[in-house]
Amino acid sequence: MKLNTARICALLLISIMMMSCRGQKSEKPPVHPQQNMDFQDRFNAQEANPFFADGRSMRTPVEGTVARGQLRANTVLYEGVDENGDYINEIPFDLTESFLYRGKDKFEVYCQMCHGGTGDGQGIIMTGGYGYVPAPSFHREASYNMPDGEIYSAIANGIRNMPAYASQIKVEDRWAIVAYVRALQRSQNVPEEEMQQYDVDLAELQQEDEERREREDELAEERAAASGEEEVSAERGEKLITANACNSCHSVDGSRMVGPTFAGLYGSERTFEDGSTIEADEDYIRESIVEPDAKIVESYDNAMASYSYLSDGEIQSIIEYLKTLSDN
Ligand code: HEC
Ligand code: HEC
Repeated sequence: MKLNTARICALLLISIMMMSCRGQKSEKPPVHPQQNMDFQDRFNAQEANPFFADGRSMRTPVEGTVARGQLRANTVLYEGVDENGDYINEIPFDLTESFLYRGKDKFEVYCQMCHGGTGDGQGIIMTGGYGYVPAPSFHREASYNMPDGEIYSAIANGIRNMPAYASQIKVEDRWAIVAYVRALQRSQNVPEEEMQQYDVDLAELQQEDEERREREDELAEERAAASGEEEVSAERGEKLITANACNSCHSVDGSRMVGPTFAGLYGSERTFEDGSTIEADEDYIRESIVEPDAKIVESYDNAMASYSYLSDGEIQSIIEYLKTLSDN
C-alpha cells in the first residue's frame, strides 16, 4: 500500500478521534498519551512514611530555620503586638481613604453577616434565630477600649468562639478591616456639634431614631403580654441553653470555659471585677442575661452579648433550669 500524504492525514485524524472521544462509557482510565509528571510515586497528606524514624511523611520545618519568604519577624505587622507582647494601639499603615474603603470591602465580605453593617452585632446570621453565639456589638465600652492589635488578632487568630480568618484575609487587608471597624465605631458616636458640619438633616435622623426606639418598646410590650401564657419549666430552660448556644461559653459540670460554669451558680455568692459581691438570685440571673455588661464576674472578660431578645417566659425557664444545677 502506498502511503501518500492524504492517507497519513486520514490515519492521524482517526487515531486522534479515537483517543479523545470514544463515544461510550468506559470503566478504564482515559488514554493519557502525554505523561508529563502526572503519575509518580509520592506520599499523600497524613500517609505513613517508613523512611523517617517517626513514620510521618508530613515533616515539620527544621528547628531554627525559616522557609524562604516566610519570615514574620515584624510582630507589629504580623501579630499586632510590640516587643513586649502587648497589643499595639496603632495601625501600621497610612490611613488613606482607599485603605479605609478596602477595609469596608473586606468587612462586608467577611464580617458583616455576623457583626452587622454598622457593627451593632445584628448581622443577618444573628437575627435569624439559628442559635449562633451572638456577635458582640462593636459599640460597647469593651470594644472601644480594645487596642487595634487585639482586633487584628481577633481576625488573625480568632477570639474565643469566633474562628480565625487568617487563611482567607491577607495581612494588609486585616489591618484595613481594623481601620474600618474604628471608622464604624466613630460613625455611631459623632457628637451633636460635630454633626452640624455635615450635610444631613439632624432632626430627621433623631426622628427616625425615636421611631425605632418606640417600635422596640412596642415589641417588648407585645412580648411581655404574650409571655403570660408561655410555658415556664426547667426542661424548656435546658433546651434554650442549647438552642441559644449558651453552652459554648458556660459548662454545666463545673469546668471553666469562656464564662463561669452554671453548676452551683444559683444562690451562690458572686464576686465582681470591682470587688463587690452579690447573691445570685433570680434578679441577678435575669440581669446577667439581658444586660451582661452591668456586672462583670471577677477573673472573666466582658465577653457576653445581651440576650434581650429572649422572652420573659424563656428567661424564667432558664432560671428554673439553673436552679436544678444548684443545691443552694
Ligand atoms: C460567623 C460569625 C462571625 C464572623 C463572620 C465574624 N465574627 Fe467576630 N465574633 C463573632 C462572635 C460569635 C464573637 C464573640 C465570640 C465569643 O465571645 O466567644 C465575635 C467576636 C469578635 C470580636 C471581639 C469583640 C469583643 O467586644 O469582645 C472582634 C474584635 C471581632 N469579632 C471582629 C471580627 C471581624 C473583624 C470579622 C471579619 C474579619 C469578624 N469578627 C467575623 C462572630 C463572627
Ligand atoms: C460568648 C460567650 C458567652 C455566651 C454565648 C453566653 N455567655 Fe453568659 N457569660 C459569659 C461570660 C464571659 C460571663 C462572665 C462575665 C460577665 O459577668 O459578663 C458570663 C456571665 C453569665 C452569667 C453570670 C454568671 C456568674 O457566674 O455570675 C449568667 C447567669 C449567664 N452568663 C447566662 C448566660 C445565658 C443564659 C446564656 C445563653 C442565653 C449565655 N450566658 C451565653 C459568656 C457567655
